Amino acid sequence: MRTQVCIIGGGPSGLLLSQLLHLKGIDTVLLERQSREYVLGRIRAGVLEHGFAKLMREARCGDRMDREGEIHDGFFIAHGGGMDRVDLHKHTGGSSVMVYGQTELTRDLYEARDRMQGVVIHNAEDVLPHELLSVAPHVTYRDGDEVVRIDCDYVIGADGFHGVSRKSIPKDVLREYEKVYPFGWLGVLSRTKPVSLELIYARNERGFALCSLRSQVLSRYYIQVPLTDTVGQWSDDAFWQELKHRLPAEVAARLVTGASIEKSIAPLRSFVAEPMRYGNLFLAGDAAHIVPPTGARGLNTAGSDIHYLYQALVAHYQRGDDAGLHGYSAQALARVWKAQRFSWWLTTLLHTFPDSSAYDHKLQQAELAYLFSSAQALASLAENYVGLPY
Ligand code: APR
Ligand code: PHB
Repeated sequence: MRTQVCIIGGGPSGLLLSQLLHLKGIDTVLLERQSREYVLGRIRAGVLEHGFAKLMREARCGDRMDREGEIHDGFFIAHGGGMDRVDLHKHTGGSSVMVYGQTELTRDLYEARDRMQGVVIHNAEDVLPHELLSVAPHVTYRDGDEVVRIDCDYVIGADGFHGVSRKSIPKDVLREYEKVYPFGWLGVLSRTKPVSLELIYARNERGFALCSLRSQVLSRYYIQVPLTDTVGQWSDDAFWQELKHRLPAEVAARLVTGASIEKSIAPLRSFVAEPMRYGNLFLAGDAAHIVPPTGARGLNTAGSDIHYLYQALVAHYQRGDDAGLHGYSAQALARVWKAQRFSWWLTTLLHTFPDSSAYDHKLQQAELAYLFSSAQALASLAENYVGLPY
């Protein structure tokens, strides 16, 4: 088989890029290790910045997002028993975010690929890129007993944190930067009315909590838990009790609880791999970088990688201009590191660290007091939350 761009990974990054390229007449083959049902069974974050929503529309995948997604002009930070609102609209001069679940967004992308008869190969086993430094790289995968070879011009590694693409870059070329946090988030999805129209990020001595939503009948809540905790240890009742303890009393009083329809624990990690290009392999999204979910930057940072790659590949195929491909790694990483900084900052501001001193604790309080007393500090938070420009 021959294609122009072989994409490894059928998460949002790979799907969005293949859809955008197809619309420009560039041929892609996408290889996904899992079944479609498996990919669509994953529950992930649900806050989209304006740039990501724009890319979805450009990919002709924005109709349902625009119909069912909710525009949020602000969110709350609960601390010290009360709540302060971050007015995104006011502090960014009119910007906002779109609340639309990643699962729904991925479903829209798959349906768009189907409509265009895009080549998406599921259950591709043992995917392996080869000869990445040559002008004629290829990718192999196993389909039952048969090994299939795909010849291409470029390989895109959009196969997430545990994928094969990053591992194909030699150890003496790749640099990895990592920070592992000493806690995780226990998340619950429930068919209940959300406690608030806007998200509430709560800082509490017992640990961080987040009230989020997927729609007016579907809520998503999280609490910070030690890494040693397991889902089995947390009954629904225990979860709701602990969440209530961490919210301001008036919010806890109106929390509607119900049976969980999904419950999982995700450890918090910051990670960046450099460079994001090796020969004719380009990394994008979680394959190259991970953030803790606190600022909802994960999917959005994948979005900026896809934007840069899309522009670069179109410039190459339509105009023979390779400047974008040459500059991709540096350009993407410049924005990636800003998202790393913001996610680390918000995580540090709102979580309870097991080894923190009384001094650290006071600093957290001072940081929050400063934030809500300074229009400049709020503007900085808001600017990062709605997404820095591409
Ligand atoms: N071969 C083929 N596919 C693979 C391989 C492999 N060896 N390894 C992993 N994959 C697939 C995974 O099954 C997954 O469907 O690659 C896909 C990667 O998708 P994601 O992990 O969702 O990563 P990405 O598309 O970059 O999405 C960005 O933003 O909100 C964050 O982490 C969140 O997934 C989200 C990410
Ligand atoms: C979510 O709805 O899952 C969510 C929202 C905001 C975050 C993280 C997760 O910062």
